[in-house]
Amino acid sequence: MIATTALDKLEEKGFLDIAVDPTLDLATEIARLKKEKNAVVLAHYYQDSEIQDVADFIGDSLQLSQEAARTQADIILFAGVHFMAETAKILSPEKKVLLPDLLAGCSLADSCPPHLFRLFKEANPNAVVVSYVNCTAELKTLTDICCTSSNAVQVIESIPEDRPIIFAPDRNLGEYLIKKTGRNLILWNGTCMVHEIFSDEKIGRLQHRHPEAELIAHPECEDSLLEKADFIGSTSQLLKYTQTSPRKTFIVATEPGIIHQMAKASPGKTFIPAPPQNNCACNECPHMKRNTLEKVYLALKYEQPEIQLSDEIIRDARASIDRMMEISARAGLG
Ligand code: 13P
Ligand code: SF4
Repeated sequence: MIATTALDKLEEKGFLDIAVDPTLDLATEIARLKKEKNAVVLAHYYQDSEIQDVADFIGDSLQLSQEAARTQADIILFAGVHFMAETAKILSPEKKVLLPDLLAGCSLADSCPPHLFRLFKEANPNAVVVSYVNCTAELKTLTDICCTSSNAVQVIESIPEDRPIIFAPDRNLGEYLIKKTGRNLILWNGTCMVHEIFSDEKIGRLQHRHPEAELIAHPECEDSLLEKADFIGSTSQLLKYTQTSPRKTFIVATEPGIIHQMAKASPGKTFIPAPPQNNCACNECPHMKRNTLEKVYLALKYEQPEIQLSDEIIRDARASIDRMMEISARAGLG
């Protein structure tokens, strides 16, 4: 049972603000709760390493959606951000989907309010709408096909050449796709607050100091950085690249949470997080980092905060995700 005050606070703060006994071994408690409740913990690569270490599955946005669709668990605890947990709920509506902190949002999702996007869509009535999965469930209801950074090229290439395409909400990923596919996309002007903060100048200095290093970057980064990158890919593609490349040093231009898995997979290699413009840790995603091990434990214990979506939103948003899943399966992704 949760006390009423804790539930009131959940509405206000987005998470269960209940004191956790500091002597508890949270990893053991989380393992016990998972077993007791037939729950699974899915974690994105940008989560804190201690959360990744209690997860049953760690992956990029596409892999996590695929896992959410196929899991036999009754409860999915999504250690990631709101749009990811919503996608899991859309794919597995019969399951309870928990997000440790409901305020774990995303600057890309925030940049594209559905009421404004509706007008944008009306101004381009013949366009096929492709939305990066980093958007709200409501935006997905206005979308023909979703994509992630792992399958965006295949999604764009699946659309007949004579059809105009709207791409939302990430302008940087959109510009990258224009170059990669040669298609003329109509872009929504959104950006990821993490990937646009990297400093070209500081990265240039790092490259000068480490001429042996390869610069690897996520396509949410700005074009000026991508131009200099030795490899561009989604989080899972970046991880794979560091395992297969013969190089020993990498400058990593994405959220540094991924370095935990890179270092685990290639213990002899060096990973340097790409520096942000200011003297801050603003290359860390503040939304992803709202989740903590304590919040994961509390969410599993009390089965709150839960993702709630109406049947209409689930039905209307699902079609765009199903199309993405079909294209990914055809392309042998996942
Ligand atoms: P991927 O893990 O799909 O590459 O996405 C990165 C990201 O920004 C998720 O918010
Ligand atoms: Fe959103 Fe960027 Fe954070 Fe990913 S890293 S959740 S795109 S703000």
